[in-house]
Amino acid sequence: MKDDVMQALLEKARTLTEALPWIKRAWGRVAVIKYGGSAMTDPALRASVAEDIVLMKLVGVNPVVVHGGGPDVSMYMERLGMTVEFRDGLRVTDDAAMEVVKMVLVGKNNKELVSAINTHGRWAVGLSGDDARLIQARQLDAALGRVGQITAIDTTVVLNLIEDGFIPVVATVGVGDDGRSYNVNADTAASAIAVALDAEKVIFLTDVDGLYADFGDKDSLISALSLSEAVDSIASGRLSKGMVPKVTACVHALENGVERAHILNGTIPHALLLEVYTDAGVGTMITREGLAVSREPDRVMREDEVTCPNE
Ligand SMILES: Nc1ncnc2c1ncn2[C@@H]1O[C@H](COP(=O)(O)OP(=O)(O)OP(=O)(O)O)[C@@H](O)[C@H]1O
Ligand SMILES: [Mg+2]
Repeated sequence: MKDDVMQALLEKARTLTEALPWIKRAWGRVAVIKYGGSAMTDPALRASVAEDIVLMKLVGVNPVVVHGGGPDVSMYMERLGMTVEFRDGLRVTDDAAMEVVKMVLVGKNNKELVSAINTHGRWAVGLSGDDARLIQARQLDAALGRVGQITAIDTTVVLNLIEDGFIPVVATVGVGDDGRSYNVNADTAASAIAVALDAEKVIFLTDVDGLYADFGDKDSLISALSLSEAVDSIASGRLSKGMVPKVTACVHALENGVERAHILNGTIPHALLLEVYTDAGVGTMITREGLAVSREPDRVMREDEVTCPNE
């Protein structure tokens, strides 16, 4: 065999062995993956994300997908001649808008993601917060209509699906005690579900490379961040738009037992695999300790964290 061919093959083997400690670390644990509306509109990208999710499942992680779909909801509302209005980043959702939210998130976006995953086999099952009362909510503010605040997560149906080998895909519509549907923030829901499932990690796939110290400076991407630094960045007032709920969701997850939160660019093919299974990673990783926890898995793995059989 030619030297260069052999080198290329060895490189592939190296990639696989580099993944080994990461695979062991997360084996048998839950990873909640929040797929952002802004990153989920392109079918080719959706296919690549679906491939990564199935691969994760096959190497022993239990992915639970939680998705938004804001841009699509706005597009359909506009098509129907409805007014699209946001206040402090929250969509003003009257009863008619809630119907559109539900139709688009549950009927369209959820099923697109489920079908993309299921081109690889019988894996994904789509759910919304109404199913088995998975996401319970109440009205946040009468002025915002049917915008919901999460009151409880009932993980029963998700755990049953994981137990049976499926990948749950959750549209973030909440259900109230009044039986009505509420529009809940997908980042907040992903974090609440990760906490309720005692997930090892929560991953936010969005449309930027991660968290920037200064969003105007493309060289300021933060690779690793501690919980307290994340809290400071929210307080700094320098985050805008969707980054505030996202970093807040990361903080909530870490404060309640999730070990790692990642913010990644879902528009880069295979960002998920690169972040989760390589030493370098590609986005922003938030842990309680920050940089002190390097991206080298062996140094951060404690005996009691290893769930892989035969360890
Ligand atoms: N410091 C920052 N670093 C990175 N992104 C930032 C920062 N401050 C603000 N942003 C904005 O946050 C956006 C990501 O949040 P956004 O809510 O738009 O996407 P999403 O949550 O992935 O999608 P969706 O809300 O539809 O589910 C980026 O596109 C960027 O414009
Ligand atoms: Mg958002």
